[in-house]
Amino acid sequence: RRGAATEPDLAGRRVVISAGGTREAIDPVRFLGNHSSGRQGYALARTAAARGADVTLVAANVSLPDPAGIRLVRVGSAVELAEAMEAERGGADALVMTAAVADFRPVTSAASKIKKSGAAPAPIELVENPDILAGLVESRKKERTGQTIVGFAAETDDVIDNGRAKLARKGCDLLVVNEVGGGKAFGTDDNKATVLGADGTVVDIPTGPKEDLADRVWDLVVERLPDRAS
Ligand code: CTP
Ligand code: CA
Repeated sequence: RRGAATEPDLAGRRVVISAGGTREAIDPVRFLGNHSSGRQGYALARTAAARGADVTLVAANVSLPDPAGIRLVRVGSAVELAEAMEAERGGADALVMTAAVADFRPVTSAASKIKKSGAAPAPIELVENPDILAGLVESRKKERTGQTIVGFAAETDDVIDNGRAKLARKGCDLLVVNEVGGGKAFGTDDNKATVLGADGTVVDIPTGPKEDLADRVWDLVVERLPDRAS
């Protein structure tokens, strides 16, 4: 088994990882959010650093201790996350999107706190957020680079079929598909996953600590890294 601090197989490589969950403002004090803890993204950041990588972690609303030796960029909303990833992507050998991105945001965010009026509440009108992962794939197309792009997906049923369709739709190189439901994945230490490759590969990763899953993901990224021109 490869990985960990014993083999610095990511030395000289730059990786950018998104973590956490975006928040979409309704008014100055309220938002639409999700339960993503950021743990999987932080585990990827720590393991990449242990393997020698130069790591940038783009964290959306994560309340975990700052990992040592990692550049941390904090964001709130999906649009902010999109801008941060676009700003950081250049020159990176790998981009990993573990963040739970809100699919929709309120069309407008009220400037002042919304008050009860006695009447029925106004519905919150939503608009779709940009697909950040697909955008990163699109940006890469304009360049000649061996950059590897990894997505994460949580699926409740037809995990492989849904995962394959999603991988094709996003155009990324690897999609780590987590089986969720029944208390799995969110906010827990263990994570079972299947990694689907755009090249047709399927790698099962058994239930275990998020650090182990992270190391297996880096193994698959390392396999895909182009040799260094030295
Ligand atoms: N993702 C993204 N931008 C979005 C939505 C998702 O970059 N607006 C990324 C996530 O970070 C993740 C991957 O896409 O790496 C898959 O997210 P998922 O929510 O499973 O995919 P969706 O395309 O939003 O599909 P679904 O309708 O199943 O939610
Ligand atoms: Ca989604």
